[in-house]
Amino acid sequence: MTVMTADLTGIDVLAEIERLRKERNAVILAHYYQKPQIQDLADFVGDSLQLSQEAAKTDADVIAFCGVKFMADTAKILSPEKIVVLPDLEAGCSLEDSCPPEKFKAFREAHPDHIALTYINCSTEVKALSDVIVTSSSAETILQQIPKDQKIIFGPDRHLGGWLSRKFDREMLLWPGVCIVHEAFSETELLKLKAQHPDAPIAAHPECPPHILDHADHVGSTSSILKYAKNFEGDTLIVATEPHIIHQMEKALPGKNFIGAPGADGNCACNICPYMALNTLEKLYLALRDLQPRIEIEEDLRLAAKRSLDKMLEMASGTVGKGDLGAR
Ligand code: 13P
Ligand code: SF4
Repeated sequence: MTVMTADLTGIDVLAEIERLRKERNAVILAHYYQKPQIQDLADFVGDSLQLSQEAAKTDADVIAFCGVKFMADTAKILSPEKIVVLPDLEAGCSLEDSCPPEKFKAFREAHPDHIALTYINCSTEVKALSDVIVTSSSAETILQQIPKDQKIIFGPDRHLGGWLSRKFDREMLLWPGVCIVHEAFSETELLKLKAQHPDAPIAAHPECPPHILDHADHVGSTSSILKYAKNFEGDTLIVATEPHIIHQMEKALPGKNFIGAPGADGNCACNICPYMALNTLEKLYLALRDLQPRIEIEEDLRLAAKRSLDKMLEMASGTVGKGDLGAR
């Protein structure tokens, strides 16, 4: 873990972030799983697809990425001329960790007639080995553009892959990775909560295992869950994803009750993403001040990874014709 040693006594961190944001011509991008204080000062808060679209089009000189490393890497891949800083370089992801590039490469080589449809929660090296990247909000649109007879490897999230596979009746070879946060929801505790709030719908992220998704009234990405929360008609919603997203729901609908789905002992903090939680206001201030920790990616690798990301951005906006993908 990164240890913050700077003495910030007497420094008004919020005022300094404001000053540095202007001085550096920086844009602060934040994921919905960030702490509320970070969400509230960000220039843009969004899901993985929206954040990569925003990173690709910003005219800022500096992107301060409040999210996890694969997201900041994505910003650098798409905007190499910008300085991209991540407040804590240790902010990783269990899905990325589950998929070492050399093992993924061997898996691909063992299935040469398959294309690799890969979740954005992976390393730059794995992106470079993939045909098209998806996020949870672009996966359905993209999958439907791939010819039915095309064989597919889906990694690294076996739950998102399994959910897509069931929804579209599409066989896929699944990499066995999971998100430790969504894996921690307890079906038993969820059913107890549901019994206390029988009229409350359940909205769940597709990174949840099937025994949680089976109880969901809505399954979708963070932005899609947020949209559902803004439109559902009842008073109470049970939210089966990282609970910091509830901040946006409470801001938009202060009269409604949003309850985070429980983990194994009913009230553990095991559904807070430990990687996202590494970013703090103090580390964001230091990142803007020092322009460190900075994301650097070797150019050949960046270009190789950009291919599959560009494919996602094109296919997600419907600009690529159906059947455009071919096996490697
Ligand atoms: P989305 O915001 O794209 O739904 O992704 C969720 C997530 O787990 C990011 O790590
Ligand atoms: Fe990775 Fe899960 Fe954290 Fe998202 S919530 S960054 S998938 S560990």
